[in-house]
Amino acid sequence: MLDILYKRRSVRRFTTEKVEEEKIDRILEAGLLAPSSKSKYPCEFIVCDQPELNLKLSESKPGGASFLKYAPVSIVITGDEEKSDVWIEDTSIAAAYMLLQAEKEDLGATWVQIRGREHKENFSAEEYIQELLGIPKNQKVLAIIGIGHKDGLKEGRDKSFLKREKIHRNHF
Ligand SMILES: Cc1cc2nc3c(=O)[nH]c(=O)nc-3n(C[C@H](O)[C@H](O)[C@H](O)COP(=O)(O)O)c2cc1C
Repeated sequence: MLDILYKRRSVRRFTTEKVEEEKIDRILEAGLLAPSSKSKYPCEFIVCDQPELNLKLSESKPGGASFLKYAPVSIVITGDEEKSDVWIEDTSIAAAYMLLQAEKEDLGATWVQIRGREHKENFSAEEYIQELLGIPKNQKVLAIIGIGHKDGLKEGRDKSFLKREKIHRNHF
């Protein structure tokens, strides 16, 4: 597990190579295996693999999403607020699991924040995506994960990255 954690980086440059369906399926498996408060399982995943759709997703917010137009696959992660009051935690854990499985598949992936972001003035990125993909209002949009084959090498991390002073024991 630590090997994957050290290797994983946010990758935003992808080749045009098609992403194997079985790899996407294992990434979704990882999301579905994530723990869930009170076993409510509020998460849903929308796989977008049409270039026109990923272009529209790349316009979800003014900055930080533009690389999605080059992502062969985007997965939108939503959580049902009527099912769970902690849908944010549940969807976040699922997203993290999926990022790790993407690394395990040697695919590049990056989290694009949607929750709390604006598409334009008085119109949230969430509303934009709900409208674009026909997502019901109770399904809150956490994030999009852009996925593809890595274009170029992004160095992983080593132990020098660890800020061990952040670790406390028994007292802050
Ligand atoms: C909650 C969260 C939101 C993020 N939002 C974005 C985003 O909107 N766009 C983006 O390109 N990267 C986004 N990232 C990726 C971070 O920029 C990235 O994790 C950070 O720079 C550390 O780099 P690393 O992932 O390679 O370790 C987000 C990451 C997290 C955890």
